[in-house]
Amino acid sequence: MNNASQSISDQLGRPVRDLRISVTDRCNFRCGYCMPRDVFGKGYQFLKQSQLLTFEEVTRLVRLFARFGVRKIRLTGGEPLLRREIEALVGMLSALEGIEDIAMTTNASLLTLERTRALKEAGLDRINISLDALDPDVYARINEVNTPLEDVLDGIGNALSAGFSAVKINMVVQKGINEEEILPLVERYRHSGAILRFIEFMDVGNHNQWKLDRVYTAREIVALINGDYPLEPVDPNYQGEVAKRWRFRDGGGEIGVISSISQPFCRGCSRARLSAVGELFTCLFATSGFDLRSLLRTGQDDETIAGRIAEIWRNRADRYSEERLAPGNSASPDSRSSKVEMSYIGG
Ligand code: GTP
Ligand code: 5AD
Ligand code: SF4
Ligand code: SF4
Repeated sequence: MNNASQSISDQLGRPVRDLRISVTDRCNFRCGYCMPRDVFGKGYQFLKQSQLLTFEEVTRLVRLFARFGVRKIRLTGGEPLLRREIEALVGMLSALEGIEDIAMTTNASLLTLERTRALKEAGLDRINISLDALDPDVYARINEVNTPLEDVLDGIGNALSAGFSAVKINMVVQKGINEEEILPLVERYRHSGAILRFIEFMDVGNHNQWKLDRVYTAREIVALINGDYPLEPVDPNYQGEVAKRWRFRDGGGEIGVISSISQPFCRGCSRARLSAVGELFTCLFATSGFDLRSLLRTGQDDETIAGRIAEIWRNRADRYSEERLAPGNSASPDSRSSKVEMSYIGG
């Protein structure tokens, strides 16, 4: 078979369109909601280089996913800029037929001007940057490292100057921790060209002490911003888009809110995830993945691997965030003890 598109649907009729690829499980930050230091501190066993998919292996899998309609690739981690020569992978992926959009999600602490330009030149289309506060103390309290906030702000500036088709700034809002940073972020990044996105704190992984009362909901976020900077809704870019879009009525630009707790969006979920060791996960909240690396490393041909991918996707019935919201479930985090960690699977 050639690389022509052959659409596949899961048990709920959803196609596969996006592939989110974790290129490393390591990060230079220790955000409490993702890699709390008491778990990911000294003694934590990170993956070894030999366990990670090589760039050739990632590229081969992406080419096979493209057969089934994957058009968007997102490189994540951990922190993807910690993976050596990630620019080379971007270049390899951007040469693939069918891949229309390559994006990266990063904390931007390593996004120097030189690196940003190299990524752009290699074919990176878009970049999403995490930034939870503008107050240096609040910022440091959240990411639990001494990286100067200035490095991240410079990284955002570099991204904005590089000519990407979009630069998005992701803020995870936690009640009692950083909701007071919402308006300062709006003030700073309105009119900048960046799209600010506010994310409800989610119960991913097993260690982030998630509680419903620490979720500052999308509705609260929009109401707060709208009070100072009037907003109006914007139509989604595509069906099943993660963020709901709003724009400032005065032309100050656009924001997004990601409401996976209060208004889940599983119905349109066309996202697959590939861990750094080559396991395919069909949901962010899965407890296990499907090993594709062993197929790659035992010499299986493209047809066999593509067949396995199609089989996994066709069997998929995940709708975790919607199930969580079902009556009786809404107030409690998931009770399964072994959900996969977000830094491992790729946010
Ligand atoms: P765009 O393509 O720019 O719209 O990217 P995105 O919003 O999908 O990606 P990003 O990496 O910036 O993720 C922002 C937030 O949305 C993170 O907290 C993700 O974990 C969350 N998110 C992305 N996809 C899903 C998903 O399928 N399910 C859930 N529950 N959350 C998701
Ligand atoms: N809840 C919501 N968002 C999270 N992220 C990481 N952990 C969580 C969580 N528990 C966000 C990061 C990044 C994106 C990939 O996911 O801040 O912006
Ligand atoms: Fe690192 Fe991003 Fe996780 Fe923070 S949220 S620890 S920056 S991977
Ligand atoms: Fe998709 Fe799972 Fe997120 Fe629902 S919870 S949107 S199925 S990744």
